[in-house]
Amino acid sequence: MHELRSFVVRSRIRSEKRRNLIKYHSFIKGDASFFSSLAGCSKVNLEIGFGDGAHILQRAQLEENSMFIGCEVYPNGVSQLIEGMLNAKVDNILIYNNDARELVNHAPDNFFSDIYVLFPDPWHKKRHHKRRLLNANFINLLYLKMRPGSRLLIATDCADYYHNIVNTGFNFHNQKPEDWVSTKYEKKALENSSNVFCLTLYK
Ligand SMILES: C[S@@+](CC[C@H](N)C(=O)[O-])C[C@H]1O[C@@H](n2cnc3c(N)ncnc32)[C@H](O)[C@@H]1O
Repeated sequence: MHELRSFVVRSRIRSEKRRNLIKYHSFIKGDASFFSSLAGCSKVNLEIGFGDGAHILQRAQLEENSMFIGCEVYPNGVSQLIEGMLNAKVDNILIYNNDARELVNHAPDNFFSDIYVLFPDPWHKKRHHKRRLLNANFINLLYLKMRPGSRLLIATDCADYYHNIVNTGFNFHNQKPEDWVSTKYEKKALENSSNVFCLTLYK
């Protein structure tokens, strides 16, 4: 992969318990054979950059019969999600502990049901905009991997990022769907009285 990183590799985990949760968890490989193993699943949803995991955990509990794939590179967040899954006995989440773009590249076309990209790192400085995860190329790829009837849900509190996404030429709806589940970053944004922009793309 030649793309610039869309994330910074953040601090290691201090607690041994959390470290062990990661050490003994079976992460998915996200390669072609992994996707073949999911052929029997009726619905596979994807969250990219799940942060502390609260959103995907809640979604997976609401949709017990669907499979969820969560991608995150932040070790503390990954361990929080594993802990949450164990506590709530949730077994329909698979975790990809690496750059989501690699997993998406390996996914078959027309594969995913809902895809969530909530509060992707905004990379505020102009010289860093090229690191933003959501650009026309990646949205195009996500769209290719979405099955007909599915949705791509995006949220950001960065007005400039929002405009860039809208200007990619896709038919985004400025809409917060009724089944919206808020995230830690959304709560932070609202506490700071920032505007939150929600976008939905239907296929
Ligand atoms: C600003 S946080 C938002 C977290 C969460 N979605 C929320 O709304 O609370 C963005 C997250 O995306 C993750 N991330 C960024 N680029 C990624 C990538 N290419 N693959 C997987 N995770 C990524 C970061 O590690 C970070 O935890």
